[in-house]
Amino acid sequence: MKRIKIVLVSIFTLIIVTVYGQNKTLWLDELDMNKVESGWIMSKSKTSTDGNTFTIAGQKFERGIGTHAISRFMLYLNKKGVRFTAQVGVDDESKGGSVQFYLLGDRKIIWESGLMKSDDPAKTIDVKLKGIKKLAFLVTDGNDGIAHDHADWCNAKLEYKGKDCPEFVSQKLSQSANYILTPKPAKTPRINGAKITGASNGKPFQYLIAASGLRPMSFTAENLPQGLSLDTTTGIISGKVVNDGEYDVKITAKNDKGTDTRNLRIVIGKDKLCLTPPMGWNSWNCWGLSVSEEKVKASADAMIASGLIDHGWTYVNIDDGWEGSKRKRNGDITTNEKFPDMKCLVDYIHSKGLKMGIYSSPGEHTCGGYLGSFGYEEQDARIYAQWGIDYLKYDWCTYWDKVDPKPELSAIKKPYIIMKKALEKQNRDIVHSLCQCGLGNVWEWGKEVGQLWRTTDDITDTWESMYSNGFSQYHNTQYAKPGNWNDPDMLVVGKVGWNSTMHDSRLTADEQYTHLSLWCLLSAPLLIGADMSQMDEFTINLLTNDEVIGINQDPLGKQARRLSKDNDIEIWVKDLEDGSKAVGLFYIAESKKAENSFVWEKNPVKSTAKIKVTWSDLGISGKHIVRDLWRQKDLGKYAGKFEIEVPYHGVVLLKITKASSSD
Ligand code: GAL
Repeated sequence: MKRIKIVLVSIFTLIIVTVYGQNKTLWLDELDMNKVESGWIMSKSKTSTDGNTFTIAGQKFERGIGTHAISRFMLYLNKKGVRFTAQVGVDDESKGGSVQFYLLGDRKIIWESGLMKSDDPAKTIDVKLKGIKKLAFLVTDGNDGIAHDHADWCNAKLEYKGKDCPEFVSQKLSQSANYILTPKPAKTPRINGAKITGASNGKPFQYLIAASGLRPMSFTAENLPQGLSLDTTTGIISGKVVNDGEYDVKITAKNDKGTDTRNLRIVIGKDKLCLTPPMGWNSWNCWGLSVSEEKVKASADAMIASGLIDHGWTYVNIDDGWEGSKRKRNGDITTNEKFPDMKCLVDYIHSKGLKMGIYSSPGEHTCGGYLGSFGYEEQDARIYAQWGIDYLKYDWCTYWDKVDPKPELSAIKKPYIIMKKALEKQNRDIVHSLCQCGLGNVWEWGKEVGQLWRTTDDITDTWESMYSNGFSQYHNTQYAKPGNWNDPDMLVVGKVGWNSTMHDSRLTADEQYTHLSLWCLLSAPLLIGADMSQMDEFTINLLTNDEVIGINQDPLGKQARRLSKDNDIEIWVKDLEDGSKAVGLFYIAESKKAENSFVWEKNPVKSTAKIKVTWSDLGISGKHIVRDLWRQKDLGKYAGKFEIEVPYHGVVLLKITKASSSD
């Protein structure tokens, strides 16, 4: 009996030791990469961000994870961690990156790399994890923006005790579901969209009267300039105007429930395109290079079926990935098999009252490796015009081959001057949208060559990326005006994925309200990066608030300026045509401290902040009506100041209008 007891105890001890006693190993590349935040596209397991074998200063590694700054994630160790080892650095595939790696345990930095640049040899991490509950991994952008910041955690593995494998800790402060703020549009007609639009004389004009409300609806337009006509059932105004001038047209929408009337100013003349920021959709953030005619058509159809078209969304823009592999004998650009008939596709888009955009690059190839326009600019512009294209996004990729590593400003401008001239020669207006990520301070001269220009690197669906692209736009405020816009990149709402893993935007609801509010205040182009055919109720609601969109489309065309900023709060204000002000109160809870990039056990970050804006800071006095634009609700009349609670990473977007003396 005693012997049996001893044997049983030994077996039991053996089981305990085997299960709990021995160290186990978790390689980081065994984790779910969807949960490893990355500042650009998705993090990758066992390859670098671009899908290559890890290479740091020539040294190759087989295992690890490829991330892109700013990147972060946290694991719950529950004091079971023993040791973490890795070799880290900037991958050789990206020249010019600079990052900082951090490892934090329960709010304390336990290892940091210092600034690491491309070509720096890998640094070794070997740390003990005794007593740590939460282990956090962070790669920052080295304080110079995220461009080229391909950060590898090579051979990264964690030893731990016990049976439970460390799990991710969510980094969202609020887990609240996507909550809806805006009431549904009324059944009565309401005319939305741009109140001013322009075109060149003698070139095709097209404008769709965007109106929400019950269908069927009929439209009238009084005082249309000669050459234009209205389709009274679709609301499409089209034709060609021969004489320069400004025409005030009275447009009316009518249905069974009532009518709505508004003034539309049509401006005909030179340089009159994009008098308000372009609004529409672009294929890149969802489809990447896998875009096809089918997907573009489905997106246009969804823009109509979801009702977005009734709120001013107009452009359907194909990004990179449509081009053929070879030009025709005569040099004409070709499409690849995914776009069998571009002209037919464009005609379809136009027949719905929408407009069509396309993409190219001034180098021999585009960023995606397709045919670029170098040496064929005029021929390409001619073909675009023949197809009926309305908008060209013109990149920079591979044009580096044509210039010095540190090019003069004239060399930076050159390809855009060439394309501007080529576009202007065509028999239709084509918007020129520059996409060279701010090279040569493009905001200072972009107006000489185009209507809008990218000011930042590519956006991705993380708070860090959206924050850095959007809130960095305080320095270029003065350069935005009707016809010329700073472009901090497209909207990362709805389902995005760059054709890797299609997923719901990782921005929380509050972060998405912040994103839209800020882009509207900035008079930024609004280009939806989502798969339009999969938009949920929240996304549709987010994109159809006419009062919020109205801030973006305000005819005065001012860009908001940053009124104040501290570590936690930013206030931005935009002057509007009617003399009122749009004000964004943002609780950014931002800090450059590594430990504040994470949600810890006892988070010092509050879930709301009280934000106050004073009339003296806004340069106004007396009683003002304060309206909450997301809720489309007046909050009351205030004198001197207004104060409100704002959620973490969220916003309250206000319109502040002088109360009339009778109020
Ligand atoms: C990048 C650009 C992206 C997308 C991509 C296509 O340079 O910033 O928005 O257009 O090229 O290859």
